[in-house]
Amino acid sequence: MRSERPDEEIRSKSRQLKKYEADTGIFVRDGESDEDAMDFFSPFGPILSRTRMSSEVIDRLNSFADGIVSPTEGMEFIVPEEQLHEGGHESFAHQASRSIARYLGYVDKVQMNEVRFDVVWMVSQYASTPSPVHFHSGDISGVLYLKVPQIHNEAQEELRTYISGRQAGYINFISGGKQQYSKSLISFKPAVGDFYVFPGWLLHGAEPFRGEGERRSLAFNAFVR
Ligand SMILES: [Fe+2]
Repeated sequence: MRSERPDEEIRSKSRQLKKYEADTGIFVRDGESDEDAMDFFSPFGPILSRTRMSSEVIDRLNSFADGIVSPTEGMEFIVPEEQLHEGGHESFAHQASRSIARYLGYVDKVQMNEVRFDVVWMVSQYASTPSPVHFHSGDISGVLYLKVPQIHNEAQEELRTYISGRQAGYINFISGGKQQYSKSLISFKPAVGDFYVFPGWLLHGAEPFRGEGERRSLAFNAFVR
């Protein structure tokens, strides 16, 4: 028998559970016409977002990094807190917080009160250096691309996937394995200004590249409430 509970209690419980329900929006529509359409849904699993940061943010972070990186050897270094807040509305902290708040609003249906950047670092890489698959700490992580290299024979590299050894410097997110009728990998080609937000626990790694120039990115771990 259904227990009689006050409406408010039911509403509050439903609100808490709603975040586990996927959007019923169509992922892909296949077919020549509406009558012939087959709609595909891809509702399960972790959610990633991509926004773009302004060129002011990119330029400021790049001038900071230019004074630190080596022109030949890759390295990782921490970005100091004050650097993140420089520029008011055109600061990294401001633009990243807005994107994280939008992410949480959509994914968890909650309004973000506060974001705390636990650690923010930059990665400078040259040809042939992979960033092995890993996960982060914290609730939310993100990556922002600041410089991208010129890939040798990119069309040739794109014949491969991450698993078959592509070397084009893409970022690859992994969730799951070889389950039938399911996806477990998504790869993105880095572009300057692209800012990805994803759950901190999600496995990801950057593949190596063959080519000229530096691949420079900024990554962070953040706690939200
Ligand atoms: Fe990472």
